[in-house]
Amino acid sequence: MTATTQAAPTLGVIGGSGFYQLLEEAEEITVDTPYGAPSDTVAVGAVAGRRVAFLPRHGRTHAHPPHRINYRANLWALRSLGVRQVLAPCAVGSLSRDHGPGAVVVPDQLVDRTSGRTQTFFDERALHVPFADPYCPAGRDAVLEGAVAMGTDAHDGGTMVVVEGPRFSTRAESRWFASNGWSLVNMTGHPEAVLARELALCYTAIALVTDFDAGLDAGESVQQEEVFAVFARNSARMREIVLETVRRLPEQRRCPCPGALAGMDLPFALP
Ligand code: ADE
Repeated sequence: MTATTQAAPTLGVIGGSGFYQLLEEAEEITVDTPYGAPSDTVAVGAVAGRRVAFLPRHGRTHAHPPHRINYRANLWALRSLGVRQVLAPCAVGSLSRDHGPGAVVVPDQLVDRTSGRTQTFFDERALHVPFADPYCPAGRDAVLEGAVAMGTDAHDGGTMVVVEGPRFSTRAESRWFASNGWSLVNMTGHPEAVLARELALCYTAIALVTDFDAGLDAGESVQQEEVFAVFARNSARMREIVLETVRRLPEQRRCPCPGALAGMDLPFALP
């Protein structure tokens, strides 16, 4: 890690596709972790009096596809810098007519349909974190309040199914997801959320709908350019939502997230 004289960032933002920059003035920090290198350097700067760390999930040149992201290194890097609360903007497909392209949704549940991804720090000992509620309640409230303050609609709740990718879903898969009552589909929300929980971090997903997934879209399959273009059109709004959230999220954590590892004999010292 490169040296810095500034206070540690306690809040981290992991930017998704099309969200590569958050801070106007930032110090770029190279972080190494026991799990290898994170997706990129971490930009650290100030927002409303708080030190904030920003890490683009796919790297600034989008070099890391969803199934190859080093999620462990990303979360470890943020925690080792001092981060305890993570906001995670992401692009999602919609499985419901209620949320069209451009909609912002703050999911409250996820379903893991990934396969073969490393999804734990606990390989050396049988440790099981609680994960019934994968997202931080205080983080979710702050996003919803921030969106209201901006006069933007943000939908409260929904289940995000996370698929392995990198392909999009078939129509049959997509209809099956929707028939289960799941409302959003994405490729990066897992194992990011559970790895954050294993490091006792607060983690809040902020989903931007970029497309109707295949089961709803009568036309051609979802196209990557469409996903990127819709995110790009909405990235300024997403950035504002994140900044408004940072202004509202109390630094003092009163949510259950810091207690996720209570009583556990960890195989390593938390950074
Ligand atoms: N990310 C954005 N749109 C998506 C979709 N339809 N399926 C999976 N991930 C996505």
